[in-house]
Amino acid sequence: MNKKIILRDDEMPKQWYNVTPDIPNGLLPPLDPETKQPMGPEKLGAVFPMGLLEQEMSSERFIDIPEEVQEILKIWRPSPLVRATNLEKALGTKAKIFFKNEGVSPVGSHKANSAVAQAYYNKREGVKRLTTETGAGQWGSALSFATSKFGIECKVYMVRVSFDQKPYRKSMMNTYGAEIVASPSPDTNTGRRILAQYPDTPGSLGIAISEALEDAATRDDTKYALGSVLNHVVLHQSIIGLESKKQMEIAGAYPDVIIGCCGGGSNFAGMACPWIPDYLEGKKIKFVGVEPASCPSLTMGKLAYDFGDVAQTTPLLYMYTLGHDFIPPGIHAGGLRYHGMSPIVSAMVRENIIEPIKVHQLECFEAGVLFAKTEGIIPAPETCHAIRGAIIEATKDLNDPKTILFNFSGHGLIDMASYDKFYAGELHNYDYPEEEIAKSMANLPKI
Ligand SMILES: Cc1ncc(COP(=O)(O)O)c(C=O)c1O
Repeated sequence: MNKKIILRDDEMPKQWYNVTPDIPNGLLPPLDPETKQPMGPEKLGAVFPMGLLEQEMSSERFIDIPEEVQEILKIWRPSPLVRATNLEKALGTKAKIFFKNEGVSPVGSHKANSAVAQAYYNKREGVKRLTTETGAGQWGSALSFATSKFGIECKVYMVRVSFDQKPYRKSMMNTYGAEIVASPSPDTNTGRRILAQYPDTPGSLGIAISEALEDAATRDDTKYALGSVLNHVVLHQSIIGLESKKQMEIAGAYPDVIIGCCGGGSNFAGMACPWIPDYLEGKKIKFVGVEPASCPSLTMGKLAYDFGDVAQTTPLLYMYTLGHDFIPPGIHAGGLRYHGMSPIVSAMVRENIIEPIKVHQLECFEAGVLFAKTEGIIPAPETCHAIRGAIIEATKDLNDPKTILFNFSGHGLIDMASYDKFYAGELHNYDYPEEEIAKSMANLPKI
């Protein structure tokens, strides 16, 4: 048995897979918040390049990956598929556990898959500068790396709590030549308004998105890039699942369960979507999306039209949401602190294809430490949620020889301060903050 399955460069997929035409009962379109009518590409063109908007609305199942994008992805792709034999042994399970290691990208996570594609389409349309938000710092690093490859300037609004927790993410982004500020920042109207009202706020992805959008909307040379949630991001991440299908075949295995952590939904959807056609043809696959109990949009949120950001500047997306002004507790998986969820993942939860579960921060760090001690790689706190999900599945019945495939979305080498806090007993579980969520749910737009 091979411990890991490595594909050759020329076996890397040359097309992305778009799941949207295959989702039973389809997706509802984004709405213009003013007219409440479906929003066309004209208005969105102010902040996104047409190449990405075409992908956002596309009903083509397969879309070519431009050669320039393929060349950059080949710096680290195809990524390895690894059988977690040591973890299996430690758990005493008969289950086979496979993971797709997206931590091998230059910045340490899957986020680079979409960043390279987004930088490419912006460059193609003459964009000089990009703005973005970052939660864990992974997306900001990824876009900083990708813009440096295409000679585009980049400004990153980094959620305050992560900005303070992860100084080396800033150093990484600086290395690639990007500018970084803590969000909320004094650089935008939204930032100044929130700072005046809540000077000690930990920030949130919803706030950082508002700031990055405001910046892009007020400058002619600038567009905005989003690291998750939207259909085109999920499309770019499909390369994970497409590679994993080839690799599982080489391993002579087929997944009974596919697992990923869910922030905005892009890494999980990227792994899961390419397996959906098999599922629709009758293959029995269980898809499990793992989210934090402190920000449980899929398990405790509502499927509704809502804004993607706090300042209510985005189109209305039909998604599971906790309310756009919900500010989640400052847990150490910053990339999972988002009030909403990708419309694609939301639709598949609605159709009972994906089963969401919520887990607590401490059990996730425990899972991450066990993974580090057995498989050697220290996972990002977000990824620890997927590992926890895999352990739950593998230990339900230790004698069940099921095959589990999970997405290892990123390594945690720049998250060691969080691990130190965990060892020092300074991390706590946050339960579903019912009152806060009820308050923000009351502010959902009325459609
Ligand atoms: C390592 C890692 N995994 C997962 C996520 C969650 O994002 P998504 O759900 O879009 O994959 C993030 C987001 O920052 C991340 O950095």
